[in-house]
Amino acid sequence: MLRSKIGGIGHYVPNNVVTNNDLSKVMETSDEWIRERTGIQERRYGKKHEETTSTMGARAAEIAIERAGIQKEDVDFIIFATLSPDYYFPGCGVLLQRELGITNTEIGALDIRNQCSGFIYGLSIADQFVRTGMYKNVLLVGAEMHSMGLDFSTRGRNVTVIFGDGAGAVVVQPTEKEGQGILTTKLHSDGTYAEKLAFINPGSHGGYHDKRLEREIDYGFSDAEYGEIFMNEHMVQNAQIYPNMEGQFVFKLAVQKFPEVIMEALATTGLEKGDIDMMVPHQANLRISAFVQKKLGLRDDQVWNNIQKYGNTTAASIPIALCEAYEAGAVKEGDLVCLAAFGSGFTWGSALIRW
Ligand code: UT7
Repeated sequence: MLRSKIGGIGHYVPNNVVTNNDLSKVMETSDEWIRERTGIQERRYGKKHEETTSTMGARAAEIAIERAGIQKEDVDFIIFATLSPDYYFPGCGVLLQRELGITNTEIGALDIRNQCSGFIYGLSIADQFVRTGMYKNVLLVGAEMHSMGLDFSTRGRNVTVIFGDGAGAVVVQPTEKEGQGILTTKLHSDGTYAEKLAFINPGSHGGYHDKRLEREIDYGFSDAEYGEIFMNEHMVQNAQIYPNMEGQFVFKLAVQKFPEVIMEALATTGLEKGDIDMMVPHQANLRISAFVQKKLGLRDDQVWNNIQKYGNTTAASIPIALCEAYEAGAVKEGDLVCLAAFGSGFTWGSALIRW
C-alpha cells in the first residue's frame, strides 16, 4: 500500500525576542506567574508591516522544499493552517503561493481553520491525497502572526502572554519503503464549547449564537442592524475583537483528550505507549505536556518541548517543534514519532509516523 512520509521539514521564527519581563512593562503580569503557570520564558514577535503569517510560512516552506529534494515548481498542492491569516479572505494559501513565486496554476491551495490542531488536520488531508496517488508533493504550512491581534492591556493578559509568532512547514510525499511513513491520523471535534476559546469579532454572527446559548453580550448594535455590522467601535472599546479563553476549562479537557487521542492512534496501529520514540505535542502549556508525558510513561528525552522559547504558536507549534527535534538528531529514520494537539473548536487529533 502506498504510504506518505514527511519528505522535508523547515521552520522559521522571527528574530525579535519578547521576554516575560518585556510584557510586564505593558500589562500587570510577572515573569514568575507566566513561568509557573505555562513554562513560557520568552516568545518571538514578527516584524510588524514587514512580516506576515504568509511570509513567515514561506520562509519555513523554502527550507522544507529544499530538504525534500524538490523545486518549488514541483509542489502540486498547498495546505495552509492558521488562525491569524493576513486577510479575512482570501486565505494564506494563495498568498504563500505568490510569496514563493509559484506561478503554476495547475496546483490547488487550501486553507484550514482548525487552530491548535490545524497542523494535524492538514497532515491528515495531505496523507489522504498522497495515498490515493492524486498528489506527490503536498506542501503543508502552519504559521501564526499572533502579535498583530492581541490585547496588550492587563485585560487580555491571560491570553496574550501565552502566544508567540512563527512558522513550520513540511512536504508530504509518497514512500514505498516498507513500514515507513504516516501510519495513522485521528481527528475529532466537539462544537459544544466553541466559545470557550474563540476570537468571534469581526464576524457575521450578529449575536445569533449568543441568543441560542442564552448569553447576554452587548455588541453595541440593535436587532435592526443585524446583517450589517461586522465590527464597530463598541467592540473595539470593549475588547471584543480579541481572542478570549476560559483557561481552566480548556486545560481540563486538554489533559483528558491528549492521552485519549494518542491511545486511540496506538490502538489502530497495534502499537503501545512503550513503542513511541518521540512525542511532539502541540505546545499549549508545559504543564499539559508534562501531564501527558507522565500518563504515557515517557522519559524527558522522549518529549520535545520548546514552549519555553516560543510560547504557543498554535498551528505552527508542532511543525516548529518537530523541525527542531529533527535538526537536533532526536528524530531519526525508523523512529516512531507521535504528534498530538487539542484546541479551539474544540478540535483535537493525533498522528503516528514511522520516520
Ligand atoms: O493552545 C490551545 C489550547 N490552550 C490551552 O490548552 C490553554 C489551557 N489553559 C491554560 O494553559 C491555563 O489555564 C492558563 C495558563 C491560560 C491560565 O492559567 P490558570 O492557572 O488556569 O489561571 P487562571 O486563568 O485561572 O487565572 C488565575 C489568576 C486570576 O486571578 P484571580 O482571579 O485568581 O485573582 C487571573 O486574573 O491569575 C490571573 N492571571 C494572571 N496574573 C498574572 C491571568 N493571567 C495572568 C497573567 N499574569 N498573565
